[in-house]
Amino acid sequence: MSTIERHSSNPYLSNNLAPVHEEVTVTNLRVTGHIPTELSGRYLRNGPNPAGSVDENTHHWFLGHGMVHGIRLDDGRAMWYRNRWVRTNDVCKVLGGTPPPSDWPKDHPTFSANTNVIGHAGHTFAIVEGGGPPVELGYELDTVRVSNLHGTLPHSFSAHPKRDPKTGDLHVMAYYWAWGNQVQYLVVGVDGRVRRHVDIPLPGGPMLHDLAITEHYVLVFDLPCVFNLDAAMNGVSFPYFWNNDYEARIGLLPREGQATDIKWIPVDPCYIFHPMNAYEDGDEVVLDAVRHPKVFDRDRRGPNEGSPVLTRWWLDGKRGTARSSIVNDRPQEFPRINEELTGRRYRFGYSSGIGTGFAQDTLMKTDVDNGFVQSRVDQPRYGYGEPVFVSREGAKSEDDGYVITLRHDTQSDTSDLAIFDAQAITEDPVAVVHLPVRVPNGFHGNWIPDGN
Ligand SMILES: [Fe+2]
Repeated sequence: MSTIERHSSNPYLSNNLAPVHEEVTVTNLRVTGHIPTELSGRYLRNGPNPAGSVDENTHHWFLGHGMVHGIRLDDGRAMWYRNRWVRTNDVCKVLGGTPPPSDWPKDHPTFSANTNVIGHAGHTFAIVEGGGPPVELGYELDTVRVSNLHGTLPHSFSAHPKRDPKTGDLHVMAYYWAWGNQVQYLVVGVDGRVRRHVDIPLPGGPMLHDLAITEHYVLVFDLPCVFNLDAAMNGVSFPYFWNNDYEARIGLLPREGQATDIKWIPVDPCYIFHPMNAYEDGDEVVLDAVRHPKVFDRDRRGPNEGSPVLTRWWLDGKRGTARSSIVNDRPQEFPRINEELTGRRYRFGYSSGIGTGFAQDTLMKTDVDNGFVQSRVDQPRYGYGEPVFVSREGAKSEDDGYVITLRHDTQSDTSDLAIFDAQAITEDPVAVVHLPVRVPNGFHGNWIPDGN
């Protein structure tokens, strides 16, 4: 069989980044191996999948309509696969149909909720950054409503809440261009209501994709990819640009503090989409994150200006200084960990190796204590998406569990959900759920156990 390729002048519409055009429901999926019976719930993953036609020359990867793919597992069986567009107003304009009810006034910004999908307080939400509110989905991925979290969300949400494993709270960093030079930190309680928010003034309006937490701090990534009002006024659809004159710094906000309590630490210019984790070590905060040397300077369609590598920073809040070194120099993205250790000292991270055209190729596990890397390379046949770690019941160690990831089979042009033993990712998967369709490479997903 030959390898299937799809060509576009835009790399973010090519090969397995090309969108799919149908919503599909398939039940009783074929499985190879044995799905662990303790996995009862849904693996859900969101990503941009433009409905209708797009301009290949100007299309920005981050702006495609959101599509959530889901696989339900129960008692060792793969019950269904579904993919559904998140039916925000912009999607309904293309596909028709009635937009979902909204908790917000008519003029509130709602756009493609295309970046992540989470379960919290018994609800499922498709989420995005840059000003969009959470969009609630039903168990079978139908769009339910545009939510304001029971009237408690001041305005915008984020694509990357961090759950504190001790409290269950979600920590969120939101931004929206119309706020000017300011972002907003939010805490959402286990009841699904915002219980605290802090406005943080900044020198500009950075694209603030993610945050990290430690036991006592929230890390604010004030980095030099910033909003450009002139570009926005001139109709640029993605008006965030690299700015050499903007100081790169990371802020340590005490978890219950105010903006004036933040200790700002200058760092070498770079961009961070995703931290792997952060934790405190004496007077320092240790941050592991995928470091991009630069983004959105010359390449305006996606992040493609230098190799994204796993880097460790030591941030000294007392002295206001930082030092850094590379942990794993293989280009990568979508770092995940055992999230029972979010904000705490940890050892293992999982990520997706990144090749040409942001192709997700390799499945990697990095021991951040010593830099030892295990890689699963099945090129040219399989490419691996974001690896999600799920602890085994009664787990005895940090990596005692499963790594769950979507992979694309370039021979059959279909996708699988592959479940690996996290202690043996280079061995055959424990189970493979075979989908009869292709799932384009996307952004982020999660395992959502039933009842969550
Ligand atoms: Fe992300």
